[in-house]
Formats: sequence, structure tokens, C-alpha cells
Amino acid sequence: MQEDIQKKRHEYSLNQLNEEDVKPNPFDQFDAWFKMALNANLPDANAMTLATVNSEGKPSARILLLKDYSEEGYCFFTNYDSRKGKELKQNPNAAMVFFWPQLEKQIRIEGHIQQLSPEHSDRYFMERPVGSRRAAAVSPQSSILKNRAELETAIEDFKTKFGDDFQRPAFWGGYQLIPEKFEFWQGRESRLNDRIEYFLEDKKWKFHRLAP
Ligand SMILES: Cc1cc2nc3c(=O)[nH]c(=O)nc-3n(C[C@H](O)[C@H](O)[C@H](O)COP(=O)(O)O)c2cc1C
Repeated sequence: MQEDIQKKRHEYSLNQLNEEDVKPNPFDQFDAWFKMALNANLPDANAMTLATVNSEGKPSARILLLKDYSEEGYCFFTNYDSRKGKELKQNPNAAMVFFWPQLEKQIRIEGHIQQLSPEHSDRYFMERPVGSRRAAAVSPQSSILKNRAELETAIEDFKTKFGDDFQRPAFWGGYQLIPEKFEFWQGRESRLNDRIEYFLEDKKWKFHRLAP
């Protein structure tokens, strides 16, 4: 029995989330909270969990960095042939979760995924430091490696062959999550948390309160 974990309790009491205060549009509400997280200088404020589902309906989740957002969608970049890339090909439905413990806030977004345009991915690829670009171009993300040396040798070979001058490989690029649902969660005392869920009705965003 993990008694230490059972006894671990943190009271949430910083803030409230009231119907009068939330924005009518969830994209604006996200923007307000995301800027709060950035302004609080939280480490990796743009880190989120992305959940995908494979063709057998089995979920998997991993942390990624949000790299852009607008009313068109929430963008991240990765390897299209990775496990998540393969799962997204099988099933475009996905979910994102942000958790900022210092703010006692959680945001959940559910929707479907589309690939970003090659031009958008090219632009972002070229903004990355050369080491990250090289890693993206060389690493067969989510494939089995014999050992670490295999990866390091492949990086050295690539350096010798191409130096710093290479383009984005077609198997690496961006996706955007197009939201169909949002939930904004604010921790409150004694687990009586505030939860405001936004949903689409006749193509208009509406919201209601959910029980904690
Ligand atoms: C803080 C953090 C940020 C990460 N950001 C990314 C990212 O933006 N893109 C990415 O492909 N992997 C990122 N990763 C690695 C992923 O969590 C994961 O290991 C990788 O994408 C392979 O996942 P998959 O096998 O499910 O496809 C990040 C990991 C951490 C801990």
C-alpha cells in the first residue's frame, strides 16, 4: 500500500471560475489562461499531454509542446511516422490536456487532428536550432533502436553528409487539433472545483458548469 501517496493532499484555494467571468468564446478563454501561465514564468508552460487512439480503440498519451494556437487550431510538431503519427492516421480524434499546478488550473481540449500545410511545417522547421533539426531528420521516432550508439552514429553520418544545410524531411511536421470541446478547470477548496465546459451547438460555442 502506497500510504505516502494516499496521505498526499493539497488544498486548492487560489481562484474561482464563475460563469460571469468566463469569455463567451473558449479560444479567448484559453488565450487568457495561457497568457497567465506564460506570465507566471512556469517551466514548460506550453507542455501538454496529447492523447490519441489506435484502430483498436486503445488510447496512448505523451507530453508535447504547443507551438502555436488560433481559432483554426492548436499546433504541435512531431514525426508523422511516430506512434502518435500512425495512430492519428488510423483515427484523427485526439485530446490535449494542460495542467499548471502553480495556478491550480487544468484545460482539456477534444477534437480532431489535421496536418499543417508543408509551408507551415517548413517555416517552423527552419526556425529550430540546427541540433533539433538534425535530430528530427535522423531519429526514426518510436522505432526500436539496438542501442544509443546507433542513433549517435546516424547523427554523425548525417553531419558529415549534409553539414548544417538540409531541408525538412517529409516525415516530420505539424498537426493542429481542431477543437470540438473545451473544459476549463479551476481547483477549489475541499475538491469543490469549478469546471466550465464549452461545446458546439448549431456551430455556436455555448458553455455549462460540470460537477467536480
Ligand atoms: C516537456 C516535453 C516536451 C516534448 N515535446 C515534444 C514535441 O513537441 N514533439 C515531439 O514529437 N515529442 C516531444 N516530446 C517527446 C514525447 O513525449 C514522446 O516521447 C515522443 O513524441 C514519442 O511519442 P510517440 O512514440 O507516442 O509518438 C516531449 C517530451 C517532453 C517531456
